[in-house]
Amino acid sequence: MKVRDRIRENPIAELIQTRGQTANPKVSETEQKLVKKTALGVTNEWSISSDEIPYGLVMISIDFEILNVNPAFCNLLGKTKEKLIGNRCYQVLHGRDTPIDDCLMKKTKLSGQPDFVETFEPALNAWLVIGTSPILNERYETVGAIHSIRDITERKQVEDALKNAVLETLEALSQVVEANDPYTAGHSTRVTELAVAIAKEMTLDEDQLDILRIAGPLHDVGKVGIPGSVLNKPTKLTQAEWWMVRSHPLVSAQTADRVAAFKKAVPVIRHHHEHWDGSGYPDGLKGKDIPLLARILTVADGFEAMTSERPYRRALTEEEARSELENCAGTQWDPEVVRVFLESLKTP
Ligand SMILES: [Fe+2]
Repeated sequence: MKVRDRIRENPIAELIQTRGQTANPKVSETEQKLVKKTALGVTNEWSISSDEIPYGLVMISIDFEILNVNPAFCNLLGKTKEKLIGNRCYQVLHGRDTPIDDCLMKKTKLSGQPDFVETFEPALNAWLVIGTSPILNERYETVGAIHSIRDITERKQVEDALKNAVLETLEALSQVVEANDPYTAGHSTRVTELAVAIAKEMTLDEDQLDILRIAGPLHDVGKVGIPGSVLNKPTKLTQAEWWMVRSHPLVSAQTADRVAAFKKAVPVIRHHHEHWDGSGYPDGLKGKDIPLLARILTVADGFEAMTSERPYRRALTEEEARSELENCAGTQWDPEVVRVFLESLKTP
């Protein structure tokens, strides 16, 4: 959208424009004062348009001064209009003496673009969606902004409760699958914890961690149809048995693919037995063609399996499993993921 069109969509900006009172904060303090005066002077128009809006609205100058607020904003802050106007927005919204790092006003000042952020605000103990729309002068420079603020705490609480219910259900499901094989009881839960810990070390964002929290419990559900006698066979598998075992990432992925909320976890589940050198299954993907989260899950899976007892071998000690990871970094496992994991094991 062109800047000119955006101004037309912003009645306050247009009002300032049509009154011919403009400001350039970089060169003229007088101009800036005129903007503030104009903003305060449009109280009637502001009230008509904003008093009934259920979201908090606040008009802010380029130097973060609150110029006007609507009743919903006062309710959100629990303060009167008189107590708010003239203060800095970072003081009343965030309880700080300076603007926060990802301050929308700072971003808008540079970009001249509308923006929004979803954030937890400790000072209000609330989740907020804060949107901003710049106020531009006739030279299309940002001279202020209108923030819209919506309290989404209740929605967040419902989302968190649903998310926890889903994750608990997935854990229960993995336990049912593992009941078929007492040697792997608790395997998926431990793999999930390890994989999430590695991802955190790699500073992946919360969305990525959530995908691992879904992929972890589901990665081996495709084993449900495989007899325990095959899964724990101490001797060499027949070709038919081997194909049965090899099919489990596909069956797990197909199961996850049936649920819309699990779609993003499907590639992670499908590729959790791929090897860095391309010798894994089901697709023989190589190196970074394997999704990063799958490379993380497979390291966690390998370490957990090695350090657990199997009918055909004893559990490796942590030291032995560490050596095995080191030896096979670059062939079976992503060397960078192994490095991060081994490093994290050193720190208590
Ligand atoms: Fe597996």
